[in-house]
Amino acid sequence: MQKIVFDHVTKYFGSHKAVNDAHFTIQEGEFFTLLGPSGCGKTTLLRTIAGFYRQEEGDIYFGDKKINDVPTHQRNIGMVFQNYAIFPHMTVFENVCYGLKARNVSKSEMQQRAMEALEMVELAHLKDRVPSDMSGGQQQRIALARAIVIRPGLLLMDEPLSNLDAKLRVKMRSDIRRLQKELNITTIYVTHDQEEALAVSDRIAVMSEGVIQQIATPEDIYAYPANRFVSNFIGTSNIIEGHCTGYDESAHVAACS
Ligand SMILES: Nc1ncnc2c1ncn2[C@@H]1O[C@H](COP(=O)(O)OP(=O)(O)O)[C@@H](O)[C@H]1O
Ligand SMILES: [Mg+2]
Repeated sequence: MQKIVFDHVTKYFGSHKAVNDAHFTIQEGEFFTLLGPSGCGKTTLLRTIAGFYRQEEGDIYFGDKKINDVPTHQRNIGMVFQNYAIFPHMTVFENVCYGLKARNVSKSEMQQRAMEALEMVELAHLKDRVPSDMSGGQQQRIALARAIVIRPGLLLMDEPLSNLDAKLRVKMRSDIRRLQKELNITTIYVTHDQEEALAVSDRIAVMSEGVIQQIATPEDIYAYPANRFVSNFIGTSNIIEGHCTGYDESAHVAACS
């Protein structure tokens, strides 16, 4: 999959702009995170990329191809959500095969690819179990295996760790990051947890009220927040009021009085 381009994308609910003029490019193989408080438009933006919603304004491109009118099932996207959305009555193995069945893959290839995906998420030994008697973390690994087994050009994850306890979240996020780099899948990850975003991302887009406030690396978001919102949201920071009396391009802090 090539890069993903958002060209002035706006999504309305009634007169409310849930996503307001999103304009940015995600590079091939990048781990890109949408970070912001609840209700800021992260899920709406993700659902628009997936094709569940159609933006009212602007265009979305996968590489050079405009995909505005391409239906979800033809976008070659793997998805993982907060609630695992796996089938409780099917075995782990059957859950992972599910996405391949619709794709006319031969039985032997299906077997091989499903086992490969299960090994990647360290669940091969549990392939014959049913998810209903497995832990939240294991269920989320099944969802991840099911998303990657189709070899998607783009992986979308919406708060995948929110239902897990704190310790498991830290382990899972580093596993997700490792897998993403191994497979080199362009990934868009949604979270409201700044620490998680800083830990896993190549770049982060911080959102507030439908508007992207800043896009930068974790280091730059942390050290050089673009505005007061980003600074507050990212956490421990001092804001000192002042009046700017001079500015030097080499200086990080302008002279204030
Ligand atoms: N289907 C919908 N119909 C109407 N309003 C919606 C719908 N989905 C989300 N919204 C509104 O759009 C805004 C962004 O929501 P959402 O994308 O779910 O935020 P987030 O994922 O960042 O918590 C919120 O104000 C929410 O109430
Ligand atoms: Mg959401």
